Amino acid sequence: MLVFSNAYELQAELPTSFSSLGLVPTMGALHQGHISLVERAIKENSHVIVSIYVNPTQFNRVEDLEQYPRNIDKDLETLAPYSNKIMVYIPTNEDLYPEGIKVKTYAFGTLTQYFEGAYRPGHFDGVATVIESLFTRINPTKAYFGEKDFQQVLVIKALVKLLSLNIKIISCPIIRAKDGLALSSRNALLSKEHLEKACVIYNILQKITENRGHWNVQQMRAYFFEKIEALSGFKIDYFAVADPKTLTPEEELIPSKNYRIFIAVYAGTIRLIDTIELRRK
Ligand code: PAJ
Repeated sequence: MLVFSNAYELQAELPTSFSSLGLVPTMGALHQGHISLVERAIKENSHVIVSIYVNPTQFNRVEDLEQYPRNIDKDLETLAPYSNKIMVYIPTNEDLYPEGIKVKTYAFGTLTQYFEGAYRPGHFDGVATVIESLFTRINPTKAYFGEKDFQQVLVIKALVKLLSLNIKIISCPIIRAKDGLALSSRNALLSKEHLEKACVIYNILQKITENRGHWNVQQMRAYFFEKIEALSGFKIDYFAVADPKTLTPEEELIPSKNYRIFIAVYAGTIRLIDTIELRRK
């Protein structure tokens, strides 16, 4: 497998002309959610780059950055079945942040005002900074992101517009474990007990979507709080129903409109997020 820590060396490896280059940015600790993006990118492009970089500027809590799972050897093993179809970019800090690890600031309007934007101050500036750096260095035709981080997908689409880049952002569905828990690198940090209980989150979200038309937002929230608070060691960061385009929270739903539920929950010290479409009935 071709592995690079330097973008120039990686660029040199690409043929002078190719039909399309897909980029899959990740922070490693790869799981089937990441692999679904890699497989889609392989299907849709002649060349694919998977990047692995735990980006310090998007972590608003030092402990979160320190405890974030890192295992490059295991990641390379996970990618081995795709070795003749991808190149792996594992940049150094200097490669992505040549002027030192500094975060840029962006204006994304309502897209970063709520949910992860509000509860993790500076998070999306950090994400946008590293993605801008990756996009500039790699100049992909298409870049792949998961709807697990739905807010991130919209922020990246807005970033591409803001910078007038010619990159197509492909948004890919959430991959879940058999029990419904959205796959996440952070799941590896959960205790056995919390991992078993965490599947309840998806069951609750499904139950709420089934009751669209019967429950108002306050009833949905009350149900979510009741069920999560019954789990020992679990704590809710937020529950919201929002417009899927502007990401503004709504308390009164228009029956003909589709919305999306966004949640963040602590299981012990590990923070989990999930999202689900709240379709009109
Ligand atoms: P990371 O959490 O490693 O996720 C990399 C990509 O995989 C993101 O686009 C994320 O949405 C997607 N992903 C994660 N879990 C998924 C799941 N269960 N189903 C589908 N897709 C999933 O998100 C980041 O890294 C970083 O913020 C990054 C974009 C790399 C910038 O540093």
